[in-house]
Amino acid sequence: MLEVLHDELCSVRGLPTQVKLVEVGPRDGLQAEPVCVPTEVKIELLNRLSSAGFEKIEASSFVSPKMIYDLDGKIIEANDAFLRIVGYDREDLMAGRLRWMDLTPPEWLARDLSQWIPQQKVTGRLEPFEKEYVRKDGSRVPVLIGVATFEEGGNEGVAFVLDLTDRKEAEHRLHESYEMLRELTSHRETAREEERKHIAREMHDELGQHLTALRMGASVLAMQLGDGHPELVEQARALTAQVDTTMQVVRGVIASLRPAALDAGIVAALEWLAAEFNRNPCTVCRLRLQDETLVLSEDRAIVLFRVAQEALTNVARHAAAMQVTITLERTPDACLLEVRDDGKGFDPLATRKRSFGLAGMKERVLMLGGQIDLVSSPGNGTTIKVCLPVHKGVPT
Ligand SMILES: Nc1ncnc2c1ncn2[C@@H]1O[C@H](COP(=O)(O)OP(=O)(O)O)[C@@H](O)[C@H]1O
Ligand SMILES: [Mg+2]
Repeated sequence: MLEVLHDELCSVRGLPTQVKLVEVGPRDGLQAEPVCVPTEVKIELLNRLSSAGFEKIEASSFVSPKMIYDLDGKIIEANDAFLRIVGYDREDLMAGRLRWMDLTPPEWLARDLSQWIPQQKVTGRLEPFEKEYVRKDGSRVPVLIGVATFEEGGNEGVAFVLDLTDRKEAEHRLHESYEMLRELTSHRETAREEERKHIAREMHDELGQHLTALRMGASVLAMQLGDGHPELVEQARALTAQVDTTMQVVRGVIASLRPAALDAGIVAALEWLAAEFNRNPCTVCRLRLQDETLVLSEDRAIVLFRVAQEALTNVARHAAAMQVTITLERTPDACLLEVRDDGKGFDPLATRKRSFGLAGMKERVLMLGGQIDLVSSPGNGTTIKVCLPVHKGVPT
């Protein structure tokens, strides 16, 4: 495509060979280097691009939308592909009804006038830029434009235009589905937490009550059977011991669903987490709390707790660290959590596709409008920093 355009420009008699067109970036934008064109060549180029000449070019496979403009706002010439984008016909063009300044909505025109035109006057070219045109029917079309004036400091130039409608629509759909995915994740996480809380409470209240009654019954049985039935007393005691073990199992399950300490606030919950972690002697977990009386809203407390929990699970599983430090701080407008280990570290870019634990942390934090940063490299430990915004005057 570039060669055709290049040939098209170079085939104009006298056009200097330094005409250079380069494809820029991943957006397929075209950028034309400023071209010093003698006046007679410019006229020739205009002639070539107008009517008959232009049709020939159109027929010759290269039909990228383009137009010749001046910096006062006129469109001097345009090909059919350009006219199709803006919804005008050749008659409008011939009658001088087509002005790029009129095609440009006010909010984009302000930028064109204050930045693009002065810059073009000086350098003769611009980096490809996006804007919108207003079509004849009043609708808008997003475009990417590459421009170059015919001569440095000149008033006229050529613009190559790319219709971005499909791309913008695809971007929009992608963005929408990403947003939906995020909402779904957020909804699912909230529902999961609620469910865990509910099951933990049911287990604690209902199952706990029954087990307590069972234990009391077994104890009473052991006492009432007295010395007369030593083998039955032994069985009643074994029953009591078994109820005790079951109660411990139930407590463990409840804690893994939702530690009771969480009901006492984030500080108590992190203390519980650190204590549980330190039951395993491989890595020492230290907790640094700036304010031991810090109270957070339940949703923030849960997010910070779950992030710290997943981070510690990762330390135990992957880090081979000597020490891990959890820090919790409150600034005037945010709440900061940091989990830092001195373990073997890893390359975060290399693990992105399979890392659902890390992705889950990120989603939870973004859900509350927060920010999460992961700093790690092989040999240098891992640090996870979370910042949750807190609005002044509102409970944290
Ligand atoms: N603290 C850490 N130290 C070393 N490697 C880590 C640490 N945290 C995460 N990783 C690496 O990142 C990967 C992704 O972590 P994660 O998303 O939690 O998934 P998973 O723990 O299920 O493997 C891990 O497999 C591990 O290689
Ligand atoms: Mg993990």
